[in-house]
Amino acid sequence: MNNATIEVRKGLAGVVVDFTAISKVNPETNSLLYRGYPVQELAAQCSFEEVAYLLWNDELPTQEQLAAFAEQERAGRALDPVVRRVMDALPITTHPMDVCRTAASVMGAQHPLAEDSSREANMVKTADLFAAMPAVVAYEQRRRRGQDLVEPRSDLGYSANFLWMSFGEEAAPEVVEAFDVSMILYAEHSFNASTFTGRVITSTLSDLHSAVTGAIGALKGPLHGGANEAVMHTFDEIGIRSEESLDEAAARAKAWMEDALSEKKKVMGFGHRVYKQGDSRVPTMKAALDKMIAHYGRPELLGLYNGLQSAMDEAKGIKPNLDYPAGPTYHLMGFDTEMFTPLFVASRITGWAAHIMEQLGSNSLIRPLSSYSGVEERHLR
Ligand code: COA
Repeated sequence: MNNATIEVRKGLAGVVVDFTAISKVNPETNSLLYRGYPVQELAAQCSFEEVAYLLWNDELPTQEQLAAFAEQERAGRALDPVVRRVMDALPITTHPMDVCRTAASVMGAQHPLAEDSSREANMVKTADLFAAMPAVVAYEQRRRRGQDLVEPRSDLGYSANFLWMSFGEEAAPEVVEAFDVSMILYAEHSFNASTFTGRVITSTLSDLHSAVTGAIGALKGPLHGGANEAVMHTFDEIGIRSEESLDEAAARAKAWMEDALSEKKKVMGFGHRVYKQGDSRVPTMKAALDKMIAHYGRPELLGLYNGLQSAMDEAKGIKPNLDYPAGPTYHLMGFDTEMFTPLFVASRITGWAAHIMEQLGSNSLIRPLSSYSGVEERHLR
């Protein structure tokens, strides 16, 4: 083969690398199915715990299965003392994604089933990570503010407890609901960069925690999960002014977008490798954002949201992705901007684990080829 005849697909764009039965992303119809169910229906009718169970077990749980799963999750919520010590040893300036990545690695290093990659062991490790990651994220949110750990409450569901551990007070039911919706929407999205990273690591027959640790590293980048943080930085750069009307905020956002695009900037929260006509998850997340804007009485955020979106649409026809409504939603709930991608981690652990187990079920080492473009062969004298 010579280089001229080889077609290289940069970024693996358009390359189908394997089969998956976990989720189906259909850009033609802007739809997303988890194990066959439209994600919008799951977000409207199911809890995040039910969706996690579905992703790992192919089917939604019965009442008894859900009760057993919830009991297991509630029993694993406390922050592990070793993880806490490691977190406390990290500088306060450490990015929370690096904290999450480190915590996942520590959890793996001391897991009693660390070297066991049987399906049974991986289900245990997955459930442990799922239950424990909210404590890591919540404690990191508090540590950044000089606040102490809040112990979990076993009388609350996953999302209510997550918010409780983060802020030390019970969140309103509509806030819990919006948070749960965000967790469901972030849970799974086929062969995205972090999931593929997890599958590559798994394909070497490395362990589940190594795959999750690597996936967290991939998710951190602003072209992937880090975009939800970047959206909030954009809002901050434009300036959030509480006294402003919706139209005034929209006009300033529009002007900002026009400048950014004239400088050929990539504006985070817009565009998608697969969806080109709009992200299937956005309408559901936008509805949750609208409820939060109403709940917290912050219409100026909607002005910025609308202004950026319409200016991007008019100029380039590029639609928002899930990170666009998720960023301001988490901001309204009270999270620091740097905590947004760790929230995504807590959710996406579900999808990563499903893919890790699927990869192991029919494994083949992932090792693509490259086309050499360096100097011709030469020799030392
Ligand atoms: N802002 C401005 N222009 C954008 C854009 C954005 N967010 N996303 C895509 N474009 C433009 C590109 O500049 C390019 O224009 P050109 O043809 O004039 O060069 C065109 O649209 C195609 O973009 P490309 O980067 O090739 O698409 P892709 O499929 O490789 O990239 C993303 C997809 C997600 C990496 C890209 O849209 C992006 O960087 N978005 C911002 C990051 C983000 O929100 N990520 C979260 C994804 S869920």
